[in-house]
Amino acid sequence: MTDQRWPAALAEARLHVVSGKGGTGKTTLAAALALALAAGGRRTLLVEVEGRQGIAQVFDTPPLPYAEQRIAVAPDGGEVRGLSVDAEAALLEYLEMFYNLGLAGRTLRRMGAIEFATTLAPGLRDVLLTGKVKECVGRTVGDGRGGRGRVPLYDAVVLDAPPTGRVVKFLDVTKAMGTLARTGPIHSQSEGVVELLHSGRTAVHLVTQLEDLPVQETLDTVDEIHEAGLPTGAVLVNRVRPSRLPATALTGAATGAGPGTAGLRSGLEAAGLFLKDEEVDGLIAETVEHAERVQVEAAVRSRLDAAGLPQLELPELAEGVDLGGIYELAELLREQGVR
Ligand SMILES: Nc1ncnc2c1ncn2[C@@H]1O[C@H](COP(=O)(O)OP(=O)(O)O)[C@@H](O)[C@H]1O
Ligand SMILES: [Mg+2]
Repeated sequence: MTDQRWPAALAEARLHVVSGKGGTGKTTLAAALALALAAGGRRTLLVEVEGRQGIAQVFDTPPLPYAEQRIAVAPDGGEVRGLSVDAEAALLEYLEMFYNLGLAGRTLRRMGAIEFATTLAPGLRDVLLTGKVKECVGRTVGDGRGGRGRVPLYDAVVLDAPPTGRVVKFLDVTKAMGTLARTGPIHSQSEGVVELLHSGRTAVHLVTQLEDLPVQETLDTVDEIHEAGLPTGAVLVNRVRPSRLPATALTGAATGAGPGTAGLRSGLEAAGLFLKDEEVDGLIAETVEHAERVQVEAAVRSRLDAAGLPQLELPELAEGVDLGGIYELAELLREQGVR
């Protein structure tokens, strides 16, 4: 059975880029996605590129060094590793790889030349970060059968990416390269990055909440992603709260045309609840607010639907998101077809 919320094409993706308006839940859902994709004894890597140590916070571990570390175990034995990529370390690693600059690299670091190089060339930082991500996606290990066969180290890599305002520029390596090197190892490495990012092995997911601004940014970013020729993934609708009113009562409630204080009071008294006037008024105000919110949600939802992308929904966790919450969200992603 195929679930259109997570179509077969997404199950093929090896690199899952997670963006969204700031604060909508990118880090939270990138973590839950990495955990969901690790189910069934698989191995995934969760990568952050902005040095905020958000992954360590979410998984309640010490700050991540620039090295892959196991940060969580999926219920049936899968494993999530975490990596905090730092552009300077990536540049050194890169120079080392191509120019064998062990000692020179250390000297460079001492001289602050790295900072110089990365501030000098706009875009170089992003190319280094995406280059490292690509290296992780492509890394292989022996297949464990003693022969020469090799298999990917990671079944999937999940990138906690920059927010919607910056993500397309971040991923549009071709543009950055136009102003950097036209030949040489950085150039050929970046060609590999471009190839991966524009292929079916990548999916760019967008996290949103059912509010005007995040949804508008999501829709704008979908257009930008398409224009840049990058592959869109799913929209992850986060912090969804249930509607507590029957559809028929919504419009009336939103416009305040409910039963009124006296009507509500008699209804409550019939149910054995005796409240003060201001308590009844408080309830009415809350109901109006709730009804208005549900109406806004319905409106932005239909705008989202028009974008035609697969959608997954994650609920508002009333207790906030602790480690258990990440497992809960991962399970809900699995139930919606994530694999
Ligand atoms: N489904 C949810 N339910 C409750 N709180 C959430 C949920 N998703 C995210 N949050 C909270 O919202 C805040 C922002 O989430 P975060 O993942 O850090 O966003 P971003 O990475 O986009 O800035 C955090 O405090 C997080 O715990
Ligand atoms: Mg974050």
